[in-house]
Amino acid sequence: MRLLSIYFFTVWLIGCSAGTATNPDLSSASINGQQAVAMPDAFSADAAMAVMDDGGNAIDAAIAAEFVLAVTLPEAGNIGGGGFMTIYHDHRPMFLDYREMAPGSADRDMYLNEQGQVVKMDSLFGARASGVPGTVAGMWAAHQKFGKLPWKRLVQPAVELAEQGFVVPKKLAERISDQISRAEKRDINSNFNRYFAHAKAGTVFKQPELASTLKRIRDEGKEGFYAGETAQAIVQYMQKNNGLITQNDLSRYEAKWRQPVRYHWRGYTLVTAPPPSSGGVAVAQWIGMLDDVLENTTLPAQNSASYVHLMAEIGKRVFADRAEYMGDPDFVNVPVSQLIDQNYIDKRANEVTINNISATEDVKPGLYESPQTTHFSVMDQWGNAVSNTTTLNLLFGNAMVVEGAGFLLNDEMDDFSAKAGVPNFFGAVGGTANEIQPYKRMLSSMTPTIVLKDNEVQLVTGSPGGTTIISSATQSLLNALLFDMTAEEAVNAPRFHHQLLPKDTIAYHEGLSQQVIAELEAMGYTMKQSNFGDVQLIKRTATGLEAASEARGRGKSIVAAGGH
Ligand code: DON
Repeated sequence: MRLLSIYFFTVWLIGCSAGTATNPDLSSASINGQQAVAMPDAFSADAAMAVMDDGGNAIDAAIAAEFVLAVTLPEAGNIGGGGFMTIYHDHRPMFLDYREMAPGSADRDMYLNEQGQVVKMDSLFGARASGVPGTVAGMWAAHQKFGKLPWKRLVQPAVELAEQGFVVPKKLAERISDQISRAEKRDINSNFNRYFAHAKAGTVFKQPELASTLKRIRDEGKEGFYAGETAQAIVQYMQKNNGLITQNDLSRYEAKWRQPVRYHWRGYTLVTAPPPSSGGVAVAQWIGMLDDVLENTTLPAQNSASYVHLMAEIGKRVFADRAEYMGDPDFVNVPVSQLIDQNYIDKRANEVTINNISATEDVKPGLYESPQTTHFSVMDQWGNAVSNTTTLNLLFGNAMVVEGAGFLLNDEMDDFSAKAGVPNFFGAVGGTANEIQPYKRMLSSMTPTIVLKDNEVQLVTGSPGGTTIISSATQSLLNALLFDMTAEEAVNAPRFHHQLLPKDTIAYHEGLSQQVIAELEAMGYTMKQSNFGDVQLIKRTATGLEAASEARGRGKSIVAAGGH
């Protein structure tokens, strides 16, 4: 079954997250003036810490990390993609949407052939797969509002890493050679090899074109990307390769400040991603329904068969709503407050069956019938926080480099619903709410999340991994706060994911107990081992901060005394 393919292709995925916040006027004795980062690689971790050591705040650190990742984590870090940043600054929750948008000439049926069938590869590879990038506009907007150190200081570490090169980590070299063999197998014609094939493990890898682009961004700000030489390179690349993005599309792009989703749970307040992400609503529904069910049954042991089943039952309802109601709120009316209303969540939780699997066909959206990524988390010495997820979509995005500008573009157009009911790469289906329209943002699962208690940050979490992001955010949060695990335990405990379709199929991480797997199979589930994205998490404890990067990746987390 084609839907199952999503679980075999997780090797294409990558994720990382970033977070930052700052305000020297705040005192945060409860974190002992500590600052922390949980980053998807060591270059971004060290750069973000150095910014905070220089007196920068969490937002400054996040901006520096985002640009470094565009150099050292090319499979997901980017300037050719987009993302979301959840911020807690000076006790105010904020959300920055720098998601890509459809080009002006995109149309609903652009990925259908004459027979009306979806041409899958067109939304995943090459110039037509790209939405208008949002990352540079996003970092610029974050800096304009919250930046403490100069913009140039924040872009400079990335310029140096691109110009002088960096020693290629083994895991990056492996990803690059995997990408090259996949492209060969699928006969994808791309310039990827020319730019990346020489990045061998242990050698110094320089990216001169990217360094020049980053210098323009450093010196001219947002205009260094959306106008002038960089914009011209993008437009020329589009014209040469049958792509759609024009200068007008680039000039028109803006990052948007939105109200984050807020959800109260067990004395905490979640601050998380609103539409065009489905993630915040989904996490709120997931933990909300779990609590409802727990009113009538005791909390099963973490990762027991009963727990996994219960979460899968809830996941069925979460993903039925996602497919029906979610899209870009500037284009469709997304009923966020109804979807996380306690009465609605209670009603949905009543449909959950504790001992057997609900029939997939019977799980409908509940309200009404309606007409490679990366994450990082940052906390500064003043108690501000950033949770940031950024993406090109699949590993290395559309797999083509903008000639002359040296960066990869996204293949985010695949996150739209190319045709009602036809799954995208992640097996997600959708209808009209997420159909393609000019300038619309495609629905996302990215869920950068901050959890507050008594107005102080308790947890910063997030992950890459397509639709599995929602499970990773939910389960890392429950691991840390409901099961009281340490940061390390919370990110490394095996996770699982169910999303309504494929029918009764649970993807799970290696390490889930064999007995639990057998029990779930006996209930009727199909179990598929898989990898999701790497969670990057910061947790406040009674004695200070803990930070953890999931061990499977090449992440680095640091907790240090803040010096300013
Ligand atoms: O926005 C989304 O939901 C997807 N484009 C995220 C892709 C992703 O996480 C891939 N990486 N692991």
